[in-house]
Amino acid sequence: MDSITRPAASFARALHCLRCATPYPLEYHDRDCPNCRDAAPSALAVEYDPAMLAPRPPAPSGPGLWRYGELLPVAAGEAVSLGEGGTPLLALPRLGALLGLEALFAKDESREPTGSFKDRLACAGVSAARAMGKRVIVSSSSGNAGAAAAAYATRAGMPCVVFTFRGASAPLVTQMRALGALVVYAERDDRLHLLQEGIERFGWFPTSPFSTPATGSNPLALEGYKTLAYEMAEAMGWAVPDWVVIPVCYGDALAAIRRGFEEMVAMGWTRAVPRLVAAEVSGSLGAALASGGDELPAFRRNAPSLATSIGADRGTFQSLDALRRSGGCAVTVGDAEILRWQALLGCEEGLWVEPSAAAALVAVEALVAQGRIRREERVVILLTAGGLKDPATAAAAMPEVPAVPRDLDCALAAMRAAYGERAEALA
Ligand SMILES: Cc1ncc(COP(=O)(O)O)c(C=O)c1O
Ligand SMILES: [Zn+2]
Repeated sequence: MDSITRPAASFARALHCLRCATPYPLEYHDRDCPNCRDAAPSALAVEYDPAMLAPRPPAPSGPGLWRYGELLPVAAGEAVSLGEGGTPLLALPRLGALLGLEALFAKDESREPTGSFKDRLACAGVSAARAMGKRVIVSSSSGNAGAAAAAYATRAGMPCVVFTFRGASAPLVTQMRALGALVVYAERDDRLHLLQEGIERFGWFPTSPFSTPATGSNPLALEGYKTLAYEMAEAMGWAVPDWVVIPVCYGDALAAIRRGFEEMVAMGWTRAVPRLVAAEVSGSLGAALASGGDELPAFRRNAPSLATSIGADRGTFQSLDALRRSGGCAVTVGDAEILRWQALLGCEEGLWVEPSAAAALVAVEALVAQGRIRREERVVILLTAGGLKDPATAAAAMPEVPAVPRDLDCALAAMRAAYGERAEALA
C-alpha cells in the first residue's frame, strides 16, 4: 500500500444516469443506463454525499493527484500510486503569438508515469478496484489506456488483460506488454464483447469502456480526470481559463473535467466553468450539437486517422452533455493540420506530443479563425500524451537525416538543404 494521506472514508455514495438521472448503486460501475439504451445510450456518474461539496477554502494536501484525494471515490489507504498528477501548466508564447492569442497554455500530460493522461483514470480505477476486492483489471484500448491500466494493475499486484487491435501503435503495444499486461489482438466489434464476458463470468474490473456502443469508461475511474480541472485552477491562482480544449474519443476526460470545474464552483474555490471544446476526428459530436438531439451519429472514415488514439467513429452522450452544459462546441480535425501543429509544438515550444494530442491546437486555430475564441481570452489545451507513443507518424513527415563527411562547411550546407531556414542562424 502506498503511503498517501487520505480521508477516513470516501464520500462516494451512488451512481446516477447522466441523461435520465436514475440512481444506481456503486456496484453498477460496469454498466450503462438500461433506461436510456434504446433512445441514446448514456453513462453513469458518481454521486457524492453533499457534505463533500460544502463551501470551504481550497486546501490541497498530499502529492500529485492525491492532493485532491478527498474528492475521489477511493477510501483511505487504498491509493495505488506511481507519482501521477501534478503536471505543469506551461505558457505557449510562440504558438500563442502565431494564433493571435495573448494567453495560451498547455497542461502537459506527457509527463505522467506512463506518458499519458490515462494514468489519472487508471490510478483512480485500480485503486477503487482493489478497495472493492476485485482480482483482475481489463481494458479495451488503442494503447494509452491499456498501458496505464497495466502499470497500475501491476503496482497493485493484479493481473491486467488488454484487448487491442492489430495496427495499434507498435511502441504502445510494447509498452503495455513491458508493464505486464496480457495483450491480445481482437477485431473491432469483438473487443468489447470479450471484455463484457470477462466482467460477467469472472468479475473482471474494466477501467476502459465496457458497453456497446461505448458510453464512456468506468465512472469510478473517470473521477481521476477531475483532478485536471483542480490542477488547472490551482496553477492559475484559482482563476479559470475561458476555454479548455481537449482531444476527444469517448469524452471521458472532457466530461470529468467539467464536473471538476462545477465542483470547484460549488465549494467556492472558483467562480465559473470554462467553455469546453472537443477536438474530434469523426464529426459525431458536431453533428449531434447541430441537430439538438441526444443521438450520436456514427461516421466511418474511408481511411484511418493518424490520430489513432481518438479514432472512434461516434461520440458519447457524456461528452455531448458536457459541451452543452459548458456552452462549448466541437471541431472536426484532419490529419494534415494535426501533423502541422504537432511539428510546430515540437519545434517552436519544445513539446513533442502524440498526433491525437496535437488535435487540440487544430481546434484552437479553427475557433480563432471563426472569431469564437477572442484574442484576450485565456485558453488551455490538454496535451494528452507524448510523442514517443507513436513516433512513426512524425518520422514519416520528416526529411531524411543528412549524412556528412568530416567537413563543417559541407555539414552546414547539408543542414540548410535538409532543414531550410532553421539552419540559417548557425553560422
Ligand atoms: C492521447 C489521447 N488523447 C485523447 C484521448 C481521448 O480520450 P477520451 O476518451 O477521454 O475522450 C485518448 C484516448 O484514448 C488518447 O489516448
Ligand atoms: Zn438513463
